[in-house]
Amino acid sequence: MTAATTHALEVVDLKKAFGGLTVTHNVSLTVRAGERRLIIGPNGAGKTTLFNQISGDLRPSSGRIKLFDRDITQLPPYKRAHCGLSRTYQIITLFPGDTLEHNVTLGLLGLRPARWQMWRPIGFYSDLATEARRTLDAVGLLHLAAHPVSDIAYGEKRRVELAVALAQRPRVLLLDEPLAGLSNTERSTVKALIASISRDTTLIMIEHDMDTALDLAETVTLLDYGRVIVDGERDAVIADERTREVYLGV
Ligand SMILES: Nc1ncnc2c1ncn2[C@@H]1O[C@H](COP(=O)(O)OP(=O)(O)OP(=O)(O)O)[C@@H](O)[C@H]1O
Ligand SMILES: [Mg+2]
Repeated sequence: MTAATTHALEVVDLKKAFGGLTVTHNVSLTVRAGERRLIIGPNGAGKTTLFNQISGDLRPSSGRIKLFDRDITQLPPYKRAHCGLSRTYQIITLFPGDTLEHNVTLGLLGLRPARWQMWRPIGFYSDLATEARRTLDAVGLLHLAAHPVSDIAYGEKRRVELAVALAQRPRVLLLDEPLAGLSNTERSTVKALIASISRDTTLIMIEHDMDTALDLAETVTLLDYGRVIVDGERDAVIADERTREVYLGV
């Protein structure tokens, strides 16, 4: 008898149609616990739409999503977060007028079933602030904790987004183009940060910057026109003729 493999995420026949436009056509994926998966594909391939369905921001037209063997297809996003799923967005979604510390704390509060409640002991909120500061320290931004997000550089905002996601101690983390728009220096910083994420967290990352992202990936999925074209070990996918045709344009 063989031991069962633990799947962190299983996506089965996921389809999303907007009116007559089908954006993901029966996409199926299996990601092992602890795996580092890179998702690539041309603009409009359906990568973000796939993430939106996994996170619950979009309801699939059909198909199933399982997180550690639990079917989460019908769960709203905050319940998926309770199950250990966390994500960042292609477009920054922080509250610009709020401090870094408050943004991370709000992310933590969003995770809790009970939100702001006056009767809670004051220690409850100071625990959250401590956790927020610990995570800001981990992304190298503790010195800016009291600054509003609107005052900091773009690359730093990307790191705050990572802090918001990491503070929830996710078991599966979806990163949508975490390196987009960064300078070379910022890219190295964010790349090192992603590389340092514990194996207790399974990583699934969409990224166009192949030079940087391939170093972080063990497995790669190529999407095109909403379909999985190639999927497997990184080197095999990169060497595959279909990858060259679709993504590398050769
Ligand atoms: N809410 C929506 N309503 C209608 N069409 C949508 C919606 N969201 C996405 N689409 C369409 O779905 C297709 C895939 O978009 P998606 O954002 O998933 O692509 P992507 O692979 O993430 O691209 P990029 O690399 O540019 O980020 C596009 O044609 C887009 O216009
Ligand atoms: Mg996208």
